[in-house]
Amino acid sequence: MPLNRILVADDEESIRWVLSKALKQKGFSVDLAHDGRHALELIKDNCYDLAILDIKMPGITGLELLDKVRELNSDLLVVIMTAEASMKNAVEAMKRGAYDYITKPFDLDVIDAIIEKVARARDIAGQVTTLKQELKDRYQVEKNIVGNSAAMQEVYKTIGKVAVSDVTILIQGESGTGKELVARAVHFNSGRLGKPFIAINCAAIPRDLLESELFGSEKGAFTGAGERKQGKFEQANHGTLFLDEIGDMPLDLQAKILRVLQEQEVTRIGGNQNIPVDVRIVAATNQSLVEKVRQKEFREDLYYRLNVVPITLAPLRERRDDIPALANYFLSRSCAEMSASPKRLTDDALELLKSYSWPGNVRELENSVKRAVILSNDPLLTSLDFGGLLPVSETPQSGSQETSLEALVDLKLRSCMNGIEGLDKGDIHAMVLEQVERPLIRLVLEKCRWNQVKAADILGINRNTLRKKISELQIEMKRG
Ligand SMILES: Nc1ncnc2c1ncn2[C@@H]1O[C@H](COP(=O)(O)OP(=O)(O)OP(=O)(O)O)[C@@H](O)[C@H]1O
Ligand SMILES: [Mg+2]
Repeated sequence: MPLNRILVADDEESIRWVLSKALKQKGFSVDLAHDGRHALELIKDNCYDLAILDIKMPGITGLELLDKVRELNSDLLVVIMTAEASMKNAVEAMKRGAYDYITKPFDLDVIDAIIEKVARARDIAGQVTTLKQELKDRYQVEKNIVGNSAAMQEVYKTIGKVAVSDVTILIQGESGTGKELVARAVHFNSGRLGKPFIAINCAAIPRDLLESELFGSEKGAFTGAGERKQGKFEQANHGTLFLDEIGDMPLDLQAKILRVLQEQEVTRIGGNQNIPVDVRIVAATNQSLVEKVRQKEFREDLYYRLNVVPITLAPLRERRDDIPALANYFLSRSCAEMSASPKRLTDDALELLKSYSWPGNVRELENSVKRAVILSNDPLLTSLDFGGLLPVSETPQSGSQETSLEALVDLKLRSCMNGIEGLDKGDIHAMVLEQVERPLIRLVLEKCRWNQVKAADILGINRNTLRKKISELQIEMKRG
């Protein structure tokens, strides 16, 4: 939080002039107000770091202004100038939340000393805020990434390896696989801890706005550009910039990003100054950038620049071992969030969750668990609480369909045996017929130890039909 913008309010022109000159010489940006009302307007419309206010001004006095500043809930630091060395005024100003006071006439040395003090205080306050936030985040990140599958262990290893360096990272994975979570983990385990982590979603912002968001703009650079604005690159200085959904970045902005990465400096829109930036880039996408490069929608040079260290997050259906831990984690978190009493997942619920295809990945699992917690009053969540997951709607994927079929069949078998309500015996066949008739019949037969009577019963088809199907679908029968 560097000290940058200062407001000086005094009805005496000579004071305004002297202070403005002295402060500008030190490189501060200074605005002047000739009375209290004017000062209040400026405070409302701008973001000052420090306001030096005369205590006695026509309209609104400095003390009243001080109250208004507190009402605005701003953390603007205020220094009050009093004409007489009156202790009473000084005490009153401090009581109302002034940061300090000075008495007129003053020496410019006094101003220097105050400015230095304010700058130091802001610096420390800034460090404390960042550290607090980051300790919190770091703590949470380490607790928050769940899963011990081989795929996730590879991810943890890579995070560990790249922690000390500043290499650019490209995280790829389907929607909901945890790309942002990993991006944060990279930052909070890096040497940039304590510096900003700035995220920008390139897909969510219209092109024109995206450019000024990234690179910043000078006052009046384009219609609607009010004050000078820092871009995300500048905000992330010394920290990490997370470029989310980088695959959606327009081509001309890709060229600009590449330039920033090469030169390590940005130029604000409408500006001509090159501002050096030291930023670590972590980019993420759920699209295939290689494919986009092939389609000429993504610059090849930028792709190579970003993809120094790739991290790929496997879809959840390819790391099913993580599902129980994730489900239990979301369960206890949801219960706590909703102040519900603790709940437990039954084995058959876990089995169903493990077998489902999860097209929306971890986010979908999180939402399913939340929904089940909301809808069920029971301390035990069974497969029936995840009824919406039953249809096997996944696109055939080698291996995964067999697995989910297996769980479905097991569930059926158990519900038939236990007489669980809500699951009709005969609906399973029709449900998955088109996609999965052959593997289904084969699996059921196998599970029923090739007993056709039992299999037909489970499938809900008549024994003769089953025999016909076995021959039609050329299912090889084995002995039970
Ligand atoms: N391994 C994990 N452990 C715990 N929570 C996870 C894990 N992976 C993802 N999540 C949770 O799942 C949700 C989605 O994760 P995140 O937003 O990081 O995914 P994403 O890949 O960025 O998705 P999108 O492409 O849709 O932006 C978040 O609530 C996140 O906390
Ligand atoms: Mg994301």
